[in-house]
Amino acid sequence: MAALGITVALLVWAATLTLISVWKQIYSSWNLPPGPFPLPIIGNLLQLDLKNFPKSLTKLAERYGPVFTLYLGSQRTVVLHGYKAVKEALLDHKNDLSGRGEIFAFQFHKDRGITFNNGPGWKDTRRLSLTTLRDYGMGKRGNEERIRREIPFLLEALKGTQGQPFDPTFLLGFAPCNVIADILFRKHFDYTDETGLRIQRLFNENFHLLSTGWLQLYNIFPSCLQYLPGSHRKVLKNVSEIKDYTSERVKEHQQSLDPNCLRDFTDCLLLELQKGRYSSEPWYTLDNIAVTVADLFFAGTETTSTTLRYGLLILMKYPEIEEKLHEEIDRVIGPSRIPAIKDRLEMPYMDAVVHEIQRFIDLLPSNLPHEANQDTVFRGYVIPKGTVVIPTLDSLLFDKQEFPDPEKFKPEHFLNENGKFKYSDYFKAFSAGKRVCVGEGLARMELFLFLSAVLQHFNLKSLVDPKDIDLSPIVIGFAKIPPHYKLRVIPRSG
Ligand code: HEM
Repeated sequence: MAALGITVALLVWAATLTLISVWKQIYSSWNLPPGPFPLPIIGNLLQLDLKNFPKSLTKLAERYGPVFTLYLGSQRTVVLHGYKAVKEALLDHKNDLSGRGEIFAFQFHKDRGITFNNGPGWKDTRRLSLTTLRDYGMGKRGNEERIRREIPFLLEALKGTQGQPFDPTFLLGFAPCNVIADILFRKHFDYTDETGLRIQRLFNENFHLLSTGWLQLYNIFPSCLQYLPGSHRKVLKNVSEIKDYTSERVKEHQQSLDPNCLRDFTDCLLLELQKGRYSSEPWYTLDNIAVTVADLFFAGTETTSTTLRYGLLILMKYPEIEEKLHEEIDRVIGPSRIPAIKDRLEMPYMDAVVHEIQRFIDLLPSNLPHEANQDTVFRGYVIPKGTVVIPTLDSLLFDKQEFPDPEKFKPEHFLNENGKFKYSDYFKAFSAGKRVCVGEGLARMELFLFLSAVLQHFNLKSLVDPKDIDLSPIVIGFAKIPPHYKLRVIPRSG
C-alpha cells in the first residue's frame, strides 16, 4: 500500500515537472517583455499584494523595468511603468492598444456603452457621445453655466449644516451628480432627495468594493468565484440597479421625444436611433443608450465627488494652504460673485492646489485596463492581440524627478519660482490617447469652481487636530478611497 502511495506521489511529481518545463518552453518562445515566471492556473498571483495592487506593480517595475509581463491567473498582461513607456503606449500606439481589458464586475456593460466596451461599437458610441456632449449646450460655455447654476444649491446645503459636524460624502456628491444628471436627462435632485441619495450610495459602494482585494481576485478568477457568496454579488447587483434606473429614464424620454425640441443628451442619442443612421449596426440599440448614460452617470459623479471629498480633507490638514486660498479668492473673486472659469487665469494658487489634489490622491492609480487590438511590436517585444495592457498612472504622478518629494502634498509641484502656474506633462490623472477620459474638461471645471465657491463662503474646521489627520487611503485597488471623516463648515461672513 505504502509502495503504491510513493509511486503515485512520484508520478504526480514527475508530471508536474514535465508540465512546468513544457510551459516554460512555450512561454520563453514568445518574444514577450520580461517578467516573473508564471505558474499554471494562478499565474503570478504569488507576486501580487491584492490589498495594494498598484504598489505590487511598482515593485515589479523596479525589478523587471518599465515594460513587463505579468499573468493575472491565465490572463497575459503587459504593464507599462513611467512617463516614457506609458506615453509611448497611449500616444504612439494609440490605435493598437486602445481596446478595453475586461472588468468582470461590469459584465452587464460588456461591449456596450463607452467605458467597458471592447466591441465594434465602442468607437462610434464614444464619438457620438463626444459630439453630442459638445454640440448641445454641453460644450465649455454650457457646462460652465451649468456648474455655476449648481453652486447656490451646494452652498445652501452647506449652510444648512449650521456649523455642526457632518459627513460630506453625499452632500458634496450632489453637486457633480446634478451637473451630469442635467446633461444626461435634465434632472435635478434636491440635496435630500431619496433617489439621488440611493444612486449616490450605489456609486459610492461600488467604487469602494471594486477597490477591495476580493474584487481584484474576482476579476482574475471570475468563473470560479462567481458561485461563491461575497461582495462581487453586491457590485453586480448595484451595477444592474443603476442600469435599471437609466433604462427607465431612456424609456420615459423615448415616449415624450420631440425631434424639434431636444432636451438633453438622452434625447440626442434617441433621435439618432430614430433617424436610423446606425440602423445597419447591431450595437446601436436602446440598451446601448442606457449603458452609455449609465457609464457617464457613474464616471461623471463618483470620480469628481471623491476628489472633492478628499480635497477638503487635505485642506483641513494644511490650514496654511486653506488660508492662502481664502486670500486669493478674496482678492480675485471677492465675497459674493459666483466663481467663473476666467478667474482661473488670475488664481494660479487655486489652480496648482486642484492639480496637486488630483496628483496626490492618485484616484485611479493603475488606470483602467486597456487591451491590445492586434499583435503589437513595442520596444522590440511583441504584445500579442488580446493581451491586457496596464498603462499605470501613479508611475507618472509620483515621478521623483518631476515632482520632488512625491509623497508630500505640495502645491509648489505646480508653481514656478514666480508663483505662476507650472504645467507638467506628467499630470495624466485623466490618462491620454484614444481612451482618454471623456469628462476631463467637465471635471476640471467642476473641481475649480466648486472648491473656489466652498472656500469663498466657508472656513473648514476639522474635528481633530490637523496634525492627526491621516490622509492614507482606506482601500487601494481600482481606486484609492479616502478615509471616512466628518467636518464643520463655518460661514466666513454674514
Ligand atoms: C476627477 C475626475 C475624473 C478622473 C480622475 C477621471 C479619470 C479617468 C481615467 C483615468 C479614465 C481611463 C482612461 C483610459 O482608459 O485610458 C477615464 C475614463 C472615462 N471617463 Fe473619466 N475621470 C474623471 C471624471 C469624469 C467625468 C466627469 C466623466 C463624465 C462626464 C467621465 C467619463 C469617463 C468615461 C466615459 C470614460 C471611458 C472612456 C473610454 O473608455 O473610451 N470621467 N476617466
